[in-house]
Amino acid sequence: MANEVIGVVGGGLMGIGIATKCALAGFRTTVVDTNRDRIAELSKSASTILSELIDADLITCAQCDQALGNLHVSDELFDLTDANIAIEAIPEILSAKHQLFEKLERIMRPDAVIASNTSSFPPDALSEHMVQKERFVIAHFWNPPHVIPLVEVVPGTDTNKSVIDRLVRLLTEIRSEPVVLNAAIPGFIGNRLQFAVLREALHIVSTGAATPETVDAVMKASLGRRYGMMGPFEGADLGGLGTFLSVASHLMPQLAKGEEVLDLLREHTKKGELGVSTGRGFYKWDQARIEDLKALRRRQLVTAK
Ligand code: NAI
Repeated sequence: MANEVIGVVGGGLMGIGIATKCALAGFRTTVVDTNRDRIAELSKSASTILSELIDADLITCAQCDQALGNLHVSDELFDLTDANIAIEAIPEILSAKHQLFEKLERIMRPDAVIASNTSSFPPDALSEHMVQKERFVIAHFWNPPHVIPLVEVVPGTDTNKSVIDRLVRLLTEIRSEPVVLNAAIPGFIGNRLQFAVLREALHIVSTGAATPETVDAVMKASLGRRYGMMGPFEGADLGGLGTFLSVASHLMPQLAKGEEVLDLLREHTKKGELGVSTGRGFYKWDQARIEDLKALRRRQLVTAK
């Protein structure tokens, strides 16, 4: 496995993070991007990610140099002819992904694994036009990949078991934490849980019962801490299933179910308040708040050591 050669296609927010993790674990890794401006920035982006890891005492300067030595940048898909795993991280446009997989199938070795970092497309829709569907699999990383270890591995109907095993081995070697789903469901697992919580959070704020600050404070001081140690099922076992059944029977009918909660998100987006990128969302994002966030991220990296 140590001699796997990795290709990452699309060197944006996710692609460069994934590629840097692969290079850091010792794999020769080539990132292919079609945007020349982005290509020019890629080494700097990798260095920024590696610097965060150095600051958190997770790697040494020598490991950083080695990683940068393993990382290659290209605008040419043909540079992936000798790669045995490709991870696609181009924008979430189905037709563009179809075109790319067709090309990768022609260029890459017949035994190469083709994985997609898609957030939303089901595996069978992505591999629809592929000749060898058995070598296709979803590897859904979380942002930023060097901080959040989870990768959801989602096989399609035709995915070969050996392909899943090879991918899981690679993900473990790059110090990610892979989980394999039995079947594809929209949003996989993580996003379903994330958006179930967001729906209720929006509902609470929409009713006026609490502000976004209060909801965030509750989450950070309670569930946030618990969920770092145990999942919802472990939590239910610990709390007692009889108690959970009784509370859930009364509470669940009261929880938000519809999409009217999205009006709150629509109000902000209509005003151009998109969050950190525009300086305002539910909060005002000035430089001080952004620095606080960076410090929290450093702390999370150190805690995860
Ligand atoms: P991005 O827009 O930051 O990066 C996409 C990159 O792909 C750009 O640099 C672009 O120049 C390049 N590109 C476009 N077409 C290409 C092609 N045909 N060949 C090579 N390079 C090409 O996008 P981001 O956020 O990194 O997302 C990539 C994928 O990862 C999407 O499928 C997205 O749904 C998924 N994803 C995104 C997450 C996020 O938080 N942003 C989290 C998990 C998955």
